[in-house]
Amino acid sequence: MSRLCIFVFAAIFSIALLSAQQTQTTQKVTSYADIPAEAAKRVNPVKSTPESLARARKWWKLDCTMCHGKDGDGKGDVAASMKLTPADFTNPATLKERTDGELFYIIKNGHQDMPPEGDRIKAEEGWDLVNYVRSLSKPKEDVEQKP
Ligand code: HEC
Repeated sequence: MSRLCIFVFAAIFSIALLSAQQTQTTQKVTSYADIPAEAAKRVNPVKSTPESLARARKWWKLDCTMCHGKDGDGKGDVAASMKLTPADFTNPATLKERTDGELFYIIKNGHQDMPPEGDRIKAEEGWDLVNYVRSLSKPKEDVEQKP
């Protein structure tokens, strides 16, 4: 009888452990707590003009589409082969809760599986990319003339 008790306890304990681990992995993807508050509050100094979006498109094609997909749906080839699942930027809900400062920080410094641009881009180009990423959820005709 007591051996059965120990077995039952062990089983409950391992289930508890497993679910705790699962919570941790979900949090890893959604938590932006590691972005410094100062960085998150930064205001985008670059207006989202056609010029800004045109500058960003160059980098987007070079450094981002392989993971985020040409239109930002997160279905790029590299993402697929690395089993990464970047969020769908064509859905306006995706980045709604994010500040421009947070997006800039992630583009510049990376986040989890997202690699950093670092010194490859100038600060202004980082803000251009923030504008570009935001433009992906807007109707095309509002944003750009297709190249
Ligand atoms: C190797 C694949 C890869 C490349 C290349 C890449 N990203 Fe990402 N990106 C990701 C992944 C995966 C995430 C989700 C990271 C996480 O879980 O925090 C992400 C997250 C982001 C986010 C934050 C989204 C959110 O939910 O807040 C932005 C913005 C972003 N990427 C923009 C870019 C831009 C701009 C470029 C090009 C300069 C780029 N990424 C290049 C894989 C990539």
